[in-house]
Amino acid sequence: MPKRPSDYPAGQRATASRMPAPASGRPLPDQPTPLLGGLTPTQFMRRYWQKKPFLVRQAVPGIASPVTREELFELAAGDDVESRLVTHFRGRWQLDHGPFDTTALPRVTQRAWTLLVQGVNLHDDRARALLDRFRFAPDARLDDLMISYATDGGGVGPHFDSYDVFLLQVHGKRHWRIGAQRDLSLRDDLPLKILAHFEPEEEWVLEPGDMLYLPPHIAHDGIAIGECMTCSIGFRAPSASELTSQFLYYLAERGNAHRGDDTLYRDPKQPPVSEPARLPTGLVERVGAILANIRWKQSDVSAFLGAWLSEPKSNVVFEPPARPANEAAFVNRATRAGVRLHRKTVLLYDNHSYFLNGEQNSLPSGKSWLIDLANSRTLSAKRFVTLSHDSSVTALLHEWYCAGWVELGGLA
Ligand code: SIN
Ligand code: CO
Repeated sequence: MPKRPSDYPAGQRATASRMPAPASGRPLPDQPTPLLGGLTPTQFMRRYWQKKPFLVRQAVPGIASPVTREELFELAAGDDVESRLVTHFRGRWQLDHGPFDTTALPRVTQRAWTLLVQGVNLHDDRARALLDRFRFAPDARLDDLMISYATDGGGVGPHFDSYDVFLLQVHGKRHWRIGAQRDLSLRDDLPLKILAHFEPEEEWVLEPGDMLYLPPHIAHDGIAIGECMTCSIGFRAPSASELTSQFLYYLAERGNAHRGDDTLYRDPKQPPVSEPARLPTGLVERVGAILANIRWKQSDVSAFLGAWLSEPKSNVVFEPPARPANEAAFVNRATRAGVRLHRKTVLLYDNHSYFLNGEQNSLPSGKSWLIDLANSRTLSAKRFVTLSHDSSVTALLHEWYCAGWVELGGLA
C-alpha cells in the first residue's frame, strides 16, 4: 500500500477553505495543495492547464507505486490489460504489444527497456485512489492511469502526446527533457513515434514524489536513472475529426440524423448511361442534399458526449458478484457499509440525464443522491440509511450492484 501522505501540511490548514476535503483526497478548487506545488486547483487551471509545463517537487511526498514491480508484470500478463514493451538494445528501438508472460520480459538486470501498462486504475483500487486526487479536472477529460517500469537507460524516446498528462515519479529517478518545439515530425523508420528532431529546452531529474505536468504536444523524453517507475495520469483531448466522426456515427446509429425522414435514395430520372463506371452527377448532388439536411440539437451533443465519454474501453469487462445478495440483503449490508462505484465505472451527468458506463438515462426525481454518488464515487452508510426508505433508489442501486457497476463498502 502506498503511504497516505497528508495533502495539507500544518501551515496550510488554517488558510484552506472551510469545506471539508472530499474523502477521496480530491483537492477542492480553492484549497492550496502540495499536489500542485501549493497552488489551488483554480490557480493551476488558470495558469498552467493546457498552457504550459509545470514541475512540482514533492507533489506527493512519500509516495510509493500503487502496484509493485511484480504486480505490474502480473497485470501485463493479463489479456484484458493493454501493455507495451519498448526496448532500446544496442541502439535499436523495438515495440511489442502485450500480453506478456512474465518469462517473456527481459531480465530486470538488463538495461534500456520499458514496460508500459495502461488503465491500471481499472484493475487496482490503490491506482484508482491515486487518480481521484486529480478529479479537480472533469471526469469527462480523464483517460487513465498508465504505469511504466524501466530499467537503467530505459525510455520510450523523444515524442509528444495528444494528451494532458501528469507524470508522477513513484519509484527511482528519471531524467526528463522537454521542449515546446513546432516541428513535431516523426521518424518514419521506427515502429514507435519518435521525433525526428528533438530540441529540448529544459531538463530535470525527478525523484519519487516529484511530478511534471505537460499539456498536449510538448515534446518530451524521460530516461530512467537506475530502475524506476512513473505514473502517467492522462487526460484525453480528442481531435475535431475524431469528435466529428464519432458524433455522426452516434446520430446515424440512433436514426437521429434525419429526425424520422429516412427515405430511400431515389433516382426516377436516371437516364441510361454509356459510361456505366462513371459516378452519376445526380447521385452526388442528391447525397449532398441528404447530408446537408443532417440536423441536431444541443441535447444530441450532450447525450453523445455523455454516452461516448462514459463508454468503457473495449477491453473492460465488469464482473458481477458471483453470488449476488438479493435486494433486501443488499440494502441491509449497504446500511452498514455504504456503497461505492466500482473502479471501472464511469458515471457522468448533465442537467437532464446521467450516463453510466455508456448508457443514458433521465435523472430521477430526488436526484441529489445520484449526483453525490457521481461526484464522490461513494455513498456513506449513513446516507444510504436515509435513502433506503425510497424503494426506487434501492432497486436501482441493487440493479447496478448485480451488474458489477457498484459495490458494497463506501464510507461509514
Ligand atoms: C514513460 O512513463 O516511460 C513514458 C511516459 C510518457 O512519456 O508519456
Ligand atoms: Co509521453
